[in-house]
Formats: sequence, structure tokens, C-alpha cells
Amino acid sequence: MAFPPGFLDQLRTRVSLAELVGRRVRLTRKGREHGGLCPFHNEKTPSFYVVEDKGFFHCFGCGAHGDAIGYLMRADNLDFVEAVERLAGEAGIPVPQQTPQEREKAQRQKTLLEGLAAAADFFEGQLWSPAGARARDYLTRRGLDEETIRRFRLGWAPDSRDTLRRTLSPDYPEPLLQEAGLQRVPEGGGSAYDYFRGRVMFPIGDRTGRIIAFGGRTMGDEQPKYLNSPDTPVFEKGRVLYGWAATRGNLGRHDPLAPGAPPVIVVEGYMDVIALHRAGFGTAVAPLGTALTETQLQELWRLSPEPTLCFDGDAAGQRAALRGLHRALPALKPGHSLRFITLPPGADPDSLVRTGGAEAFATLLATARPLSEVLWQAELSARPVDTPERRADLEQRLMNAAGEIAERSVQGEYRRFFGRRLFDLNRSSWASASSSAARGGGPRGNWRGKPAQPDRLPDFAPPRPPGRLHREVFLGMFLRYPAEIEAWVEDIAEVELPEPELDSLRRAILDIAHTESGLDANALRQHLVLRGQAEILSALAITVARHAGFATRGGDDPEVIRQGLRETLQLLNAMRPAAELEAARQAFAMDPTTDNLRRLTALKERELLDGPVGGLE
Ligand code: UTP
Ligand code: MN
Repeated sequence: MAFPPGFLDQLRTRVSLAELVGRRVRLTRKGREHGGLCPFHNEKTPSFYVVEDKGFFHCFGCGAHGDAIGYLMRADNLDFVEAVERLAGEAGIPVPQQTPQEREKAQRQKTLLEGLAAAADFFEGQLWSPAGARARDYLTRRGLDEETIRRFRLGWAPDSRDTLRRTLSPDYPEPLLQEAGLQRVPEGGGSAYDYFRGRVMFPIGDRTGRIIAFGGRTMGDEQPKYLNSPDTPVFEKGRVLYGWAATRGNLGRHDPLAPGAPPVIVVEGYMDVIALHRAGFGTAVAPLGTALTETQLQELWRLSPEPTLCFDGDAAGQRAALRGLHRALPALKPGHSLRFITLPPGADPDSLVRTGGAEAFATLLATARPLSEVLWQAELSARPVDTPERRADLEQRLMNAAGEIAERSVQGEYRRFFGRRLFDLNRSSWASASSSAARGGGPRGNWRGKPAQPDRLPDFAPPRPPGRLHREVFLGMFLRYPAEIEAWVEDIAEVELPEPELDSLRRAILDIAHTESGLDANALRQHLVLRGQAEILSALAITVARHAGFATRGGDDPEVIRQGLRETLQLLNAMRPAAELEAARQAFAMDPTTDNLRRLTALKERELLDGPVGGLE
């Protein structure tokens, strides 16, 4: 029995031979091939190879050779039809039933894959012919060199009704070209025309690099900017990643689990993939104009345990990131997750490497945040958490998100992770509550005393030293509103920050503000992460979420923000004597010299003159 060629091609593109063989044979990747002990004869040293790109296996020992269908026939002792049916069942493709005439016709036909390969040759030939001069110009202006253009087999579809058809027929008859998505019959009837006309062509490969579809970009403003092949028996948009085969090839030399293995990078567009590969990031892929599907996620995880997703810095980009994150939650499994990076405003990876070079993108990659962190930060900053009810709401949202995770051990880890973060959050609010209690409770307060609240947190929650909260809010405000930094540079430089970690954050902020201007909160955070400030940033995120409302009264109005900064600074300055007094007291207790006593006495006298010091909350 013969199946239609489109069907068998579809089957071959859906099935990974290495995966199929790998179920029974231990395969080791050697470059583009996988090697192992031959399942068809007895051997001690491996002479059996799977060439995934080409979709066949070969044994140098016994000569066994074939494709996925042939493999199943031998390995499971099936006949051809049985093997096809088994594979089709696994791939979820219905097996077509055919009349004998149809079968005969099908057998005579060239296959879809051959037609698509011939079309790619045609488009590529056009690009390098005189007819392609304008398109070559366009690609050069977009920063691509000849080597890259050839590596990605870019092409040019002439702006004509049927040049492709006239070139490819009679070898590839019209029905085949239509099935391959290369020709289209007008809605109201009439003769078919070429689907891609007057476009720069990006061939789309399957996981082994066989061409299964195209994307075509206009060089002008026509809509749509990119036109993709329609879905065909060999191409289903949501199952394919652009740059797939090249990425697999480049990963082939690395154990994806080894430290230092290149991360798989997921970007939005064709040009982003190409630009990144050209800049040395040979493991970039893109979905085809849609959000990542579940299938694509699973394919990514076959390449790398923690692919890094790139999103725009604007609100829409961040919403898209969160949607992607929530879509991935149910599928998370031990060792498999996602990481996220945020692009600078207005940039895509293509423009970023073009303006900042590979360095700029490498820097960005170094700021990738784990999924768990992104989720926590997003929920924490989504709504205020300044009352018990609001904190309970945060907890509920986080635990609901964790509940989305199907895999039990990962779900448990997420619950514990959020639990610890919530504990830290509550601890910080307890510490500030006790700081107000301290204010009312006499000059020394009762920092180490037992707070009166019955639901207090355990004693090991270290109280904050006086003023620390104000100092955190002061710095934290600039993290949230970096546009204010410039006007406050001197105050930032001069404010007293006895805590080394706040002092070092201050210095990093000033440094960055000195060299970069116009940073938004995201970009500033990324710069700070690169300077090793990640830990204090996540501590401050909590403070800011809980307490910056005090300074901004919950609004983003610049005047209110400035007023809040002024007030915070006034409080800090007013508190200086109290902190100094405390330090002098301790110094004298530790080291009761006359000098220390003199200093303590002088400060006490000043306090009596100036009166007590105000505070927060
Ligand atoms: P962009 O418009 O951001 O693409 O769309 P880009 O790659 O930066 O385009 P250039 O730099 O102007 O060439 C991102 C992706 O969305 C899909 C394509 O896959 C594109 O690469 N897209 C976009 C479409 O499918 N159709 C469109 O009309 C536009
Ligand atoms: Mn672009």
C-alpha cells in the first residue's frame, strides 16, 4: 500500500529518529550524529549512527540502514503499513485511506519536501541573480554579510504572478505546489498565483533543517510585513521554531546540562535570530509570529533545560512575558524551567547587537531572571501589600500560581519558595512596626525586648537599626523612579548610610547614573544586577512595595514623589543625632575611655536642646 507523499513527509518531520531510537539504544551525541551500539547485531564497540538531519540511521557493522519507518519495521518486526500506523499514532496524525488509483498517482508524485526544497533553491537563486540586486541591498543595509545570508539561505521571491510555478512545473505540478503552500487559488476561482511575491524569503526548517515553509518580508510598508506559509501537511506554525536546526547543530558540541553550556535564547522574529547567530549567539530561535505554544516549549526543553525568553521592556512586552510564564507553569518539571530577560525600551535583539555589539546582548543575558523570581516580583509589585488583608491576598495569588504547576515536587518547591519570601516580607513589616513602638518607648526603645503583639514573628527576626527603613525607602525610591536621580545626585552622595550594603548600592547607582542617562527602572535594575547588587535589590523591592507608599502616597505624580523624597531626607537628617548618640553609647560601653565619654556627653546635651526625633509610620 502506498500513502500519499505529503503524508509520509509529514510523518518524518514530526518524528525525531534520535528520540525513537534513543528509547532502546543509549545514544551519545557526536556533532550532528548520534552513535551507539547497534540494536540489530551484537557488538561491543558502537558502529551504529543516527543522522538526525537526514532522518536516517546506518550501521557500519551490519549495514542496517533506513529511516524512522524502516527502524520500527526492524526493531519491532513490523511490516511497512504497521510501522507507519504506529508512528502516525504516536505523532497524532490520522492515516489516510486511499483508493488504488490515488495511491498510484501519489507514488508518481514528487513529495512536498522536494517541492519546498526546489522552491528554496529558486528563491535563493533569484536573490543572487541580477533580479535580486535590490533585495541584496536591503539585506546588506540591515547589517547582514554574504556568509550569513547564505547560511540562512535567504532568498528573493520575484514580484510576479507565476514565475515560481513556471520554473517548478512540470516536475512539481500545481496541486503539489498548492499543497506545499507555494501557490494559491483565488477565493472566487480563476488561475492560481504564486503565494510569495516581491518578498525577501526566509526558509523555515524543521528540527533537522529540512525546509518545510517560508516567511517572506516586504522591503517597503506593504502589509503584512511578514507573510508566513499557510499550514500544510508538513508545516504547523505552532510546532516549529525558526533557527531550530542551526541551534541544535551549535548545541551539539555541548552537553546542554553542563555549566557554561550556551543558553537557548528565544526571541520574537526572524531578523533577531539571524542577527544573534551572526553576533555569535548561535543558539537563538523564534516562534513564528505567535506566542510560544506548549509544543514549542517541550521542543525547547529538548534542546536545553532552561531556555531564556526575551521580552520587550514596554508594558505590552511585560504582559506577554507574564502570559508566557503562566502558560509554562503547568508544564514545569524538575530541572526544567525558563529564564527571562527584558530588552531596553524600543530595542529588539537585532537592533541591540547592531548598536551595542555582542557585548550588549551578553550583558543583557547575564541579567536573566529565573521564572520563580519573575513571578514573585510581578505579584509583589502588582498591588500594595501594606495591610494584613493585602498581604494575605498576595499569598493567595502566589499559592494559586504555584497550584498551576502540575508536577508535585516542583509545586512543593514553589510553595516553599513563596512561603520563605512571604516570611521575609512579614518580617520586614514587623521590624518596622517595632521601630514605631521603639519611637514611643523612650530613647533606647526596646529593640531586643519582646514586642507586645501576640501574633509576632519569632525573635530571630533581626530588628532594623534606627533609620534603616528610611534609608531603604530613600534609595528604593530612585530604583523605582530613576528619572529623579539626576536632580538628587548630591543628596544621594551625602546621605549617611552606615550599612555597607546600602552604601555600596548607593555608589553603584551614582556610578551608573554618571555613565548612562535616561535609564528606566528595568534598565537600572539590570545594570545593578550586573554590579552584583542583586541581593540588596530583592530586599529593597520588599521595602519599596511595603513602604514607598509613605513617600508617594501611592501616586506616581512627580511632584508627590519629590515631596516624598524631601520628607524622607528630612527625617533621615533629623535622625542623625539619635544614631550618633546610639553609636557613642555603644562605643563607651565597649571602650570606656575619657574621649568616648566626652563624646557621649556632648551628644546628650545636644539631644536635650534639639528634642526627640521623628520617624516613619
Ligand atoms: P516584528 O515586526 O517585531 O519583526 O515582528 P522583526 O523581526 O523585528 O522585523 P524587522 O526587524 O522589521 O524585519 C516579530 C515577528 O512577528 C512575526 C514575524 O515572525 C516577525 O519576525 N510577524 C510580524 C508576522 O508574522 N507578521 C507580521 O506582519 C509582522
Ligand atoms: Mn526588528
